Amino acid sequence: MFQHRDHMGIENGHLTIGGVDAVALAEKFGTPLYVTDESRIRANYRRFKGAFPDADIYYAAKANYNLAILNILALEGAGADVFSDGELFCALKAEISPDKILFNGNSKTDAELEMAVREGIRVSVDSLDELQTLLKIAEVQRTEVEIAFRVNPDVSPKTHPKIATGLKTSKFGIPHAEVISVYKEALALRNIKPVGIHCHIGSQILDVAPFADATRKMMELVDQVNRIGVELKFVDLGGGLGVPYKPGEKAPSPSELADAILPVFEECTKSLGIAPKLILEPGRYIVADSTILLARVNTVKRAYKNFVGIDAGFNLLLRPVMYDAYHNIVIANKADQSPSDTYSVVGPICESGDVLASDRRLPKVEKGDLIAILDVGAYGFSMSSQYNGRPRCAETLVCDGRAKIIRKSESYDDLLRRQVIPSRLK
Ligand code: LLP
Repeated sequence: MFQHRDHMGIENGHLTIGGVDAVALAEKFGTPLYVTDESRIRANYRRFKGAFPDADIYYAAKANYNLAILNILALEGAGADVFSDGELFCALKAEISPDKILFNGNSKTDAELEMAVREGIRVSVDSLDELQTLLKIAEVQRTEVEIAFRVNPDVSPKTHPKIATGLKTSKFGIPHAEVISVYKEALALRNIKPVGIHCHIGSQILDVAPFADATRKMMELVDQVNRIGVELKFVDLGGGLGVPYKPGEKAPSPSELADAILPVFEECTKSLGIAPKLILEPGRYIVADSTILLARVNTVKRAYKNFVGIDAGFNLLLRPVMYDAYHNIVIANKADQSPSDTYSVVGPICESGDVLASDRRLPKVEKGDLIAILDVGAYGFSMSSQYNGRPRCAETLVCDGRAKIIRKSESYDDLLRRQVIPSRLK
């Protein structure tokens, strides 16, 4: 059940994370509750960095931008891929060095670009239109902006269509065939300096072949871009390395990814006699398996199926509903018991699609049991909402056998925060 997850275990029939009893955590902090193991994040980061010792790792903040987690990664030496002004704000708060941040995005506001330029952040430009906007901003701020272009390499990453970003039909990036002309255009501009090239082909990719394919295409472009006089300081190949969510699922390790792409990268840079920095932007790999979501069973209903109603729904974990994503379920207070029946685990949201796990073999489930949903550290809390008038739950961080709150649970007041009632309605 805990395949690959050596930070989790079972003690006295209870699930543990980072050596801490999940049942005790739920009693102390209440449910629903996100619980993250700090040492797992550090270990994942070090494993990734270890496979790419000469590369810079820009953690994809969108996966989980809780400040404590960004602080851990800043202390580990990570840079950041940010996709909004809010993520940039958080990355800077975590004291991630501005020269190790790349501002990405396919539809940035002028205000976001102004912020990036003011803070001296490099921008990955997604269109010619954006280049023009950025130029004006750089002129007004009387500064030079270092940029990359986000390339659409047109590779199929064999992942869920909603998270495949490098297909030619995708909204992201500059079409492969137009890349050289946009670099030529940028080279001619006074306040813009093209110094990088960027792609990201998709997420939860379980095969290294698409990465190798994208690297080959990118290195062909590196060759051409180099020829027209661009002095590349970096080549950013994005994130996307998948993790095993399902029992028995196999995912490539960072070293397997390195074996697939480094020879292509190194051969090309060597033959061109250039030494750009390689940048990678993993999000999921760093944080996904560090975190569980604990939820209490409100009710067990025997209807057309056996429904286990818990106190967390797609308000707190959208992935199963949005991508048909599979997350392992453990009954945290019966973690040593064998399955005895088949259950579907559903949330409290007023939508029939609010199903977090379908037809799972579980030990006998009863009201009051504690459900742990595994591998929710990436795109879990960061995609949560207050839908159905549900304040968001707390997040905790486990370190050295102790848990600390890293985000307090929201209150009813938080549901109303920032709302303003026109006086005629009072
Ligand atoms: N770089 C860029 C430019 C990205 O857009 C992304 C993710 C990453 C890096 C990090 O990718 P990762 O290593 O985490 O796969 N919400 C979806 C995933 C969306 C990914 C968006 N972009 C999910 O829950 O599966």
